[in-house]
Formats: sequence, structure tokens, C-alpha cells
Amino acid sequence: MKRKTPKIYGVIGDPIEHSLSPQIQNPAFLYHKLNAIYLPFHVTKAKLKKFIHQIKEENIAGVNVTLPHKETVLQLMDHLSREARLCGAVNTIIKKGKKLYGHTTDGQGYLMSLEKEARFKVKNKNIIILGAGGAARSIAVATALSEAKHISIINRTETKAQRLCKDLSLKIKKVNFSSGNLKNFDQEHFQKCHLIINTTSMGMKGIPLIDLPWKNINSKALASDIVYKPKQTPFLKKAEKRGLKCHEGWGMLLYQGTLSFEKWTSKKAPLKIMKDSLLEKLYAST
Ligand code: ATR
Repeated sequence: MKRKTPKIYGVIGDPIEHSLSPQIQNPAFLYHKLNAIYLPFHVTKAKLKKFIHQIKEENIAGVNVTLPHKETVLQLMDHLSREARLCGAVNTIIKKGKKLYGHTTDGQGYLMSLEKEARFKVKNKNIIILGAGGAARSIAVATALSEAKHISIINRTETKAQRLCKDLSLKIKKVNFSSGNLKNFDQEHFQKCHLIINTTSMGMKGIPLIDLPWKNINSKALASDIVYKPKQTPFLKKAEKRGLKCHEGWGMLLYQGTLSFEKWTSKKAPLKIMKDSLLEKLYAST
């Protein structure tokens, strides 16, 4: 009997060879016995438009988008979700007929990770986000849409934090936003904070972690880092020393993937299988 051609899913980026998404998605396709495969696609900036067009024409059912295309791909979509619009970024493309639908699952994936791995809900909470780049924006949007009380965005370059705050406070009402820089920010927010998130590159690739006034932070706050290698980052080590509960970075990566899987297949993501596969790949040798 002739076997049907598998549906193709994948992730596009440049570079792409170190992407962990195949490790997250392929075990889920296997678990559900779907005739599908998930592949990494190396797509340069110059080839992006052509590749997106190819998705429409060929047997590609959906793709994830990673650096450096998350923002530029936006204008190539036929439809965008509200969250993708607010984030100005797409990480999940779904093909329906010949139309492409752009979503982002990064922020919701982060929230799901907080709930599943740290039993933390953001509603009515005071949140400090360190950083004002793309990841900070997706987390700020998701926490604001889930009715956080106060979101304070603290960045090395304060003007970027200010711009992000201004933009989001115009688009998402009912949430208080404020901004500051890493060397000078409102200590009262630090004392009242329920969740502090590092979205900066501090602690990655030898970039030193700036001194934070850890002794002033609310001792019941949850500290969360979106950097996932090493598992216990310098930021989390400091937080643990202060006695804070910690939330590790791999969760955002995992749950953005489980949400993409569910959007593509309408099947429940097998969380344990996807998590075990990711963690084995990430930390087996450490
Ligand atoms: P991503 O999309 O992952 O958020 P990004 O947009 O490049 O990446 O953002 C990186 C974040 O890390 C920024 O907030 C950046 O601060 P600046 O806006 O001042 O550049 C922050 N960052 C990078 N290197 C840093 C360092 N050495 N110290 C503190 N913050 C740093």
C-alpha cells in the first residue's frame, strides 16, 4: 500500500541548526501517530519572502518562526491574531487553504509555564520585567492581557523601556505600566513585587549580571529567568541566595511549542513526552 506523503511542519530562522523545536515537536507527532514531520529550515533574510510564498504552494502545514524573522514575517501574513499585533511578532504560522495566519505563543507559553511549573497566576500581581526587547514585550503583553496589576519595565537603555510602556499603556487599559533603568528604579515596586523576570542577556555567554538590591525585594516574590542554559542562571542563583522561589527558563521554550502544536493539530499536546525530550536534549550532558 502506498504511504501518504507526511505533512511538513518546521521552524525557520538564521542560524537554525541549534533549534530545539524539532526535539519538542517530533515526539508529539509520534505520540498521536500523525503522519507528519517537523524540520529545521535555514532561511536567510534575503530568502524569507520566497520561503513564505513557498509555504502557500507546497506541502507545508505550519511553521514556527525564530530569530531574526519574528518581526519581519508579520507583514507577509494574511491574518494576524490580536496578540501577534500587540507584540509586533509572529512565532507560529498556520496555513488554512492558501491563507497564512500569524500568531505568537511566546507570551502565553510563558504564562503557562508559570502556572504549570511554579503554580503562579499573574492576575492582580505586581510584576517587574528586566529588559525591553522582543521577549520582554511578549511577556509584558501576555501578563497585561491576563490582568496583572502593575508592570514595571526596567532596562539598561531606559528610553526603550519608556517607549514600550507608553505603547502598551495606550493599547492595553486597566494595567499600570512604569519604566526605569537598571541602575535607578523605584524601590517601592521592588518591595511590592510578586514576580521579577529576567529577559535580558545578563548571565548569558559571559555577560555579567548587574547588582540588584536583592535584600530589598519582597521575600515572597517569584524570580523567573527566560535564559535556559545554564538551568540555574546567575540571576536565579542570586535569587535563591536571597531565599526566593525560582522559575527556570526552559518552561517558556517548552510551552510556546506545546501551544503551537495544539494550534496546528487541534490535539492535546502530550506535555510529559515533550518536556522529557526537551530536558534530555538540553541538560543530559550537564
Ligand atoms: P530578545 O528578543 O531576546 O528580547 P533583544 O531584543 O536583543 O533580545 O533584547 C535584549 C535585552 O537584553 C535588551 O533589553 C538589552 O538591553 P538594551 O535595550 O539596553 O540593549 C538587554 N541587554 C543586553 N545586553 C545587556 C547587558 N550587558 N546588560 C544589561 N542588559 C543587557
